[in-house]
Amino acid sequence: MKEDLSILIQAQYPLIYLVTSEEERAEQTIAAIAQSKPQRRVFIWTVTHGIVEYGQPRNVTQHNTVSPEAAVEWVIRQREPGIFVFKDLHPFIDSPAVTRWLRDAVASFKDSQKAIILMSPVQNVPIELEKEVVVLDYPLPNMAELNEVLSQQLELTRSRRITTETREKLLKAALGLTRDEAEKVYRKAHVTAGRLTEAEVDIVLSEKKQLIRRNGILEYIEEDETLDSVGGLEELKHWLRQRSNAFTERAREYGLPQPKGMLILGVPGCGKSLIAKTTSRLWGLPLLRLDMGRVYDGSMVGRSEANLRNALKTAESISPAILFIDEIDKAFAGSTGSADSDGGTSSRIFGSFLTWMQEKSSPVFVMATANRVERLPGEFLRKGRFDELFFVDLPNAEERKEIFRIHLSKRRRDIARFDLDQLVSVCDGFSGAEIEQALVAAMYEAFAQDREFTQLDIIAAIKATLPLSKTMSEQVTALRDWARQRARPAAASIAEYQRLEF
Ligand SMILES: Nc1ncnc2c1ncn2[C@@H]1O[C@H](COP(=O)(O)OP(=O)(O)OP(=O)(O)O)[C@@H](O)[C@H]1O
Ligand SMILES: [Mg+2]
Repeated sequence: MKEDLSILIQAQYPLIYLVTSEEERAEQTIAAIAQSKPQRRVFIWTVTHGIVEYGQPRNVTQHNTVSPEAAVEWVIRQREPGIFVFKDLHPFIDSPAVTRWLRDAVASFKDSQKAIILMSPVQNVPIELEKEVVVLDYPLPNMAELNEVLSQQLELTRSRRITTETREKLLKAALGLTRDEAEKVYRKAHVTAGRLTEAEVDIVLSEKKQLIRRNGILEYIEEDETLDSVGGLEELKHWLRQRSNAFTERAREYGLPQPKGMLILGVPGCGKSLIAKTTSRLWGLPLLRLDMGRVYDGSMVGRSEANLRNALKTAESISPAILFIDEIDKAFAGSTGSADSDGGTSSRIFGSFLTWMQEKSSPVFVMATANRVERLPGEFLRKGRFDELFFVDLPNAEERKEIFRIHLSKRRRDIARFDLDQLVSVCDGFSGAEIEQALVAAMYEAFAQDREFTQLDIIAAIKATLPLSKTMSEQVTALRDWARQRARPAAASIAEYQRLEF
């Protein structure tokens, strides 16, 4: 990152937009770059103090530079090489005068070793400036930077030396946090336990989970279920098991590409979300759920984009990780419609997401689920976007039996007491979720009468249920027809699948 920014400045890019909320860290980077040849002075503008030279006290301010227009004018008048950082100019940037002054500045900077950096947590580039600005995302701290923070903390608290392994665990646990947040988390762990050792890794992790949740878009999910609690879907499970070690160094050395992601399409209630969650256990990777609904925020221009960027940035810094986007069809629904009801926000978000998917080099595996294909834009389903597109159908008899077995044993019931074949035959067309619900209904019935539930209770509950495949039969049929041509069946055995293909 320091390199990218340094190159842009050396190459005399006049206007750079640095998206970050970590001002101090970014300022330090800029100051370090300014030391290299040709040396440049660094000035910082804020709406509270106007222009102040970096490193000077705040009251040593340049006269009359509080207004953004006056500040840019002042910058234009400077003759010496310099880097001029404008903090949080984004609320003012839409003003015609500010935009114009910035364009004037850009025009005047030719061969002048001067650069303006707009530093702000939100990206807001007016159309007039789009051609002049380069946007850079300031990434979250990596292991090396976090190591500095940790070392400082250990020194400050005069802690005992820790082993390299412990150190690595503590660092990994803080990945995804800003420098300030990491510092706070380490301090809190130290204060809570009176030391900072391997045993405090969990404190750091749980603090991180809370911090990540606070922005409300990403959620760190812990899932105890394993693949064994998913009935059927053998083909999909096989695919996932095959990739258990896909994110290791060994896989890279072998020459395998990093898996990018998968899209699971299917009938509601058949285990799509469940399997996505259990993959985290199988692969031993953290699971981050991205709530697309919360990405949207119409309160301010660029806000939604900033939300998405931040979430993706966090996911990247925690990587290798699984990014779980449940019901992605709902989030992108607006981007297919011709009526631009939301001012194009959802198509812009969709565009940034696709670009990110295309270009990401960090090991973030995207696991997306969807019910309604017709809502998904065509570009999304194009080959190569995801590694695989799976279709999860209603469970067949064999799979329904397995689902009964799983849910009965989950409730610690002796399976031998039940005639599974009979149960399976009466619930044709039921989804996994509906089978589970019927079972729970039967248990309630019997519990209310203060007795153990029986085969007959389950059958009665099944008979009382009208499954979705009946009430929404048209949608289900349409989805199946669509998927048969284009997606890989999640349930087919391998032999079956090969027969389909060849
Ligand atoms: N194949 C299955 N094996 C075991 N349990 C299942 C299966 N399918 C569904 N269930 C049960 O039903 C619940 C709901 O399933 P899940 O949320 O995974 O469905 P979904 O396919 O994501 O549905 P939706 O499209 O409505 O989001 C699961 O938590 C699980 O208890
Ligand atoms: Mg779901």
